Amino acid sequence: MIILGIETSCDETAAAVVKDGTKILANVVASSVELHKKTGGIIPEIAAREQSKWIIPVIGESLREAKVKNQKIEAIAVTHGPGLIGSLLVGVETAKTLAYAWEKPLIPINHLQAHLYANWLASQDKEQTTKNKVPEFPAIGLVVSGGHTDLVLVKDHGKIKWLGGTRDDAAGECFDKTARVLNLGYPGGPAISAEAEKLKTENRKLKTELPRPMINEDNFDFSFSGLKTAVINLVKKQPSFAKASEGQRKTNVSQMAFEIQEAITDVLVAKTIRAAQEHQVKTILLAGGVAANSRLREKMKKKVQAQDYQLFVPSPKLCTDNATYIAACAYFNPQFVPWEKVKVNPGLRIC
Ligand code: KG4
Ligand code: ZN
Repeated sequence: MIILGIETSCDETAAAVVKDGTKILANVVASSVELHKKTGGIIPEIAAREQSKWIIPVIGESLREAKVKNQKIEAIAVTHGPGLIGSLLVGVETAKTLAYAWEKPLIPINHLQAHLYANWLASQDKEQTTKNKVPEFPAIGLVVSGGHTDLVLVKDHGKIKWLGGTRDDAAGECFDKTARVLNLGYPGGPAISAEAEKLKTENRKLKTELPRPMINEDNFDFSFSGLKTAVINLVKKQPSFAKASEGQRKTNVSQMAFEIQEAITDVLVAKTIRAAQEHQVKTILLAGGVAANSRLREKMKKKVQAQDYQLFVPSPKLCTDNATYIAACAYFNPQFVPWEKVKVNPGLRIC
């Protein structure tokens, strides 16, 4: 089955053509991130305007790249939430129009659940350690994005149980906000990661006691706002930041970036492993933009090595927002809805 996926929940305008939920025929993404870099974060109005500028060219390009005419598309899948209302509306209304004009079934998709499906596309991915394998159920899914941090038990396609999530800031948000404090720009996750990499390997040692919020608590919840505040306080108060020479300041920033990344990833790994142990599952699925973080991937791989887990981690390109996993999710959860009934749902939860 060939599905056209459309994703416009935030600042990426994306379209993809995917066959049988696993084979990517086209993956096209236009991002307005360069505009948001100037403002240090996303301005929803600008994101929505960019969505409407790019949606038609991006869909057109995906069909050309896939060498598939619209007659061959068998269904259209579109993110209907969660996300920014203006951005979501562009994708949803375009998908509805195409479904009507081309007479195709339409499948509205939950963006957060869909992130997990990048792991079904990973079987053709060169980097993937679990190559040629598809995830087996039950699985623990960690969905870590810019606005969400959720741990779920995936019993089967469409059978998802929420185990816990963030009580305040999401993991990606913590990366983004602390990066801003360190003047590293937007988006903060890749910036912090690159900055931490600048520390020489022999210097990669913890010097500051940043908190690992809720790491030992007997639940599957997270809290990252205290970590963010700890970083803000340290940067503002520490003489080594305020009065340092330019060279020393650069080292301090790299050191802090390293510490932030260690703190966030420690918590994510610990809670995910605990969830897998408690629910006695053998499969772990990482997903969402933060899953592109190389330190998180490395730590998680190391942790599962000694144990009998199957860890699935999509390639970094498939972790961040794109439409391949929207189409994949639709293939495995083909809930068709008449176009008249499809509406945006900005506050949608993972389940
Ligand atoms: O899933 P995503 O692309 O968009 C949302 O659905 O939110 O996630 C975006 C988030 C941002 O917070 C960004 O800083 C973070 O993912 N991110 C990363 C990395 N790449 C993107 N965080 C840490 N390390 C990365 N390499
Ligand atoms: Zn996302």
